[in-house]
Amino acid sequence: MSNLPPDMDPVAILEKAIADAPAAIAAASSLEELGTVEASLLGKDSSAGQVRRSMGGLDNDLKPKVGAKLNEASEKIGALLSDRRMELEALETEKRMAAEGIDVTLATVTIPTGSIHPVQQAIDEVVDIFVGLGYRVATGPEAELAYYNFDALNTPASHPSRWESDTMYLDWGDPEDEVLLRTHTSPVQARWMETHEPPVYIVVPGRCYRKDTVDATHLPVFHQIEGLAVDANIQFSDLKGTLLHFAREFFGPQSEVRLRPHFFPFTEPSAELDVSCFLCDGGEPGCRVCSGAGWLELLGCGMVHPNVLESAGYDSTKVTGFAFGMGPERLAMVRHGVDSMKHLIDNDLRFLERF
Ligand code: PHE
Repeated sequence: MSNLPPDMDPVAILEKAIADAPAAIAAASSLEELGTVEASLLGKDSSAGQVRRSMGGLDNDLKPKVGAKLNEASEKIGALLSDRRMELEALETEKRMAAEGIDVTLATVTIPTGSIHPVQQAIDEVVDIFVGLGYRVATGPEAELAYYNFDALNTPASHPSRWESDTMYLDWGDPEDEVLLRTHTSPVQARWMETHEPPVYIVVPGRCYRKDTVDATHLPVFHQIEGLAVDANIQFSDLKGTLLHFAREFFGPQSEVRLRPHFFPFTEPSAELDVSCFLCDGGEPGCRVCSGAGWLELLGCGMVHPNVLESAGYDSTKVTGFAFGMGPERLAMVRHGVDSMKHLIDNDLRFLERF
């Protein structure tokens, strides 16, 4: 049954196979050759394979020794084979890459990363400037009571901005509990003062709504950043100095500001603030930023009306304050020379990727 030389000791045969294996395995120079070597060492026609098949005919006292040697041979040879297989696999991968000309320095698929929207960039910068002055950031609801949007801000029931043609109402008719989409961030002035004692130094970034049709200078949904400072002895010069500091931080150190009289129900006196053109610095005809005016309209502001302080529960003989409200859409447009507000909401990547 066995074709082993009858005079040879099976243990000696296996020891020879173990001894010969390292050189034979190392000589295999491809995975294919290694397969042949494996068959010749452990396959059924190998000397080890023949010993395995002859086990049944062995004397009983030999069987355990031969069996143990068989296990040793397959473990030792098996380990050498698997080490060599890994080496050869790595070599073949390398060779294949070289042959296929794979350039490992080529860029892989990149997932595009987004960027901060120019309006949000403006909001973040403005808030940073005021936080640097010690202001706190406050927020309030976008669905607001008419009371905070108008009444607490000294805006009479007859004021045209309360009409349905200007303001989007969620609940309209009963003046006591009318709910609307806030038309400015000023209601947060009243909400904050109701729940905090002076001194107050806050900035309020947030979204606002008005019944406007989208055009170059209007959006029905837009943003404002409100500022409110209430303390003992706050004067108009504090308002001007604060806004001058803001303008120089935001537009550059050469900026100047000017105030023009205006009207808001919740401030008295009220003003609009212009900043000198950061591009032509003073009225170059045809300047693409100021069209030659030399000044850019920036925001509304004024000294907080005593009625506003009183309806929040403050004593207007003890504290005074100033407030301002600016539009970050306008700031972004002025700064980047964007000619229509529409671009800001179109979500056209060719536009957004420029920022
Ligand atoms: N709330 C005003 C607006 O929406 C801006 C403003 C804020 C004016 C604070 C004065 C003081 O136009």
